[in-house]
Amino acid sequence: MLTINGLDKAYGDLSVLKNINLHVRDREFVAILGPSGSGKSTLFQLIGGIIKPEHGTITLNNEVINGKKGLISYMPQQPSLFPWRTVLENVVLAAELTGKPNVEEAKQWLEKVGLAEFENSYPIDLSGGMRQRVSFIRALLSKQSLLCLDEPFSALDEFTRIKMQKWLLSVWEENRKSVLFITHSIEEAIFLADRIYVLSKRPATMKAEITVPFSRPRNESLLETTEFFDLKQQIFQYIKEEIVE
Ligand SMILES: Nc1ncnc2c1ncn2[C@@H]1O[C@H](COP(=O)(O)OP(=O)(O)O)[C@@H](O)[C@H]1O
Ligand SMILES: [Mg+2]
Repeated sequence: MLTINGLDKAYGDLSVLKNINLHVRDREFVAILGPSGSGKSTLFQLIGGIIKPEHGTITLNNEVINGKKGLISYMPQQPSLFPWRTVLENVVLAAELTGKPNVEEAKQWLEKVGLAEFENSYPIDLSGGMRQRVSFIRALLSKQSLLCLDEPFSALDEFTRIKMQKWLLSVWEENRKSVLFITHSIEEAIFLADRIYVLSKRPATMKAEITVPFSRPRNESLLETTEFFDLKQQIFQYIKEEIVE
């Protein structure tokens, strides 16, 4: 559904992305793994049409979308909820922009993620993890079929993170939008994704593409298997080369 071909991006003299090629199939969960500052968020801004590449094409459902906004659903690195809107009003926002929101559906999702009693609360009254869930449900309820998530769990502690990863998987298994998920955690990429792209340090080039062989549904017992550990080691070899000065 999404295909990126030969993408180059620079900010002035600073080359950030170099000849990036990748694709996401229908209903596929793809992770992009790369060191911080490598250009991952830039890649999402390009897909979202917020900025334009120097070279290359971004194709969504057979249409070139370079520089076109509003065609994908995007959850930025920091949950950007509107403080003056209640949880429910925030959740229906994306749907409001593209048509009539389904308030009942929004309420059902809030209930599924344990936030039913908070639908009339304001973002300031929620914990970080709760805000992430609200932001995620908002992205999920938009009409777009591709969901781009930029390091949604990187600010959370280990316990909350594993809980949120499990929660994301259970929601995704029910909903199965195509997902592009940015992370700098090898474990997170393996646990969640069907396929992983590994980026080099800046200027980011595509170092490797790895298919994750583990069946679904997955749970945290996977994290303790030798197969999981072996794959982690294998991916670490690519990352290791990027740490060397
Ligand atoms: N608007 C901008 N103008 C100039 N440089 C930028 C801009 N946005 C990001 N950069 C630089 O581009 C590089 C990649 O940034 P980013 O895509 O945010 O990396 P990542 O998300 O992988 O941490 C960084 O060196 C950053 O400082
Ligand atoms: Mg980033």
